[in-house]
Amino acid sequence: MDYNSDAMLSYEFKLIDLPRFLDSRGSLTALQNPESIPFDIKRVFYLYEVPPGGSRGGHALKRCYQILIAISGGLDVILNDGRREARISLRRPDQGLYLPPLVWREMTGFSPGAVCLVLASEFYDAADYYRDRADFLRAVGRLQP
Ligand code: TYD
Repeated sequence: MDYNSDAMLSYEFKLIDLPRFLDSRGSLTALQNPESIPFDIKRVFYLYEVPPGGSRGGHALKRCYQILIAISGGLDVILNDGRREARISLRRPDQGLYLPPLVWREMTGFSPGAVCLVLASEFYDAADYYRDRADFLRAVGRLQP
């Protein structure tokens, strides 16, 4: 990965405030690195039309950094990095959830019409995924090999 600045990359998941230009015409959020996104964006995808009660994710990534943004509606993200567990509510288009590698995540509680935008530091690679929770917990030292 081509980091804009290694120093800006954190190994902790966290909520970050995104810039917002608000005037009488409404709001605009613009994202560019390195000011607002601490990695080069190689890929963008979005989750939408999730049926009521549905969930997405259920995996951790080995190398890829991501930022999740609820650009419409809201959802909950359940996180576990082997040390901390958290349930984070994403409901604002001017807030992003920064996820470094090795964070198990599940997206749930999508409101009707919710759209979750994901910015990623790597091209899609199916081999970059832990899809088995026990494999992930072993990788972060939380289960015996
Ligand atoms: P999947 O990883 O199952 O979604 P989730 O994030 O909810 O776990 O992805 C669904 C399908 O989309 C799967 O066939 C792989 C494909 N996909 C891509 O082709 N490119 C991508 O960048 C992503 C995230 C998924």
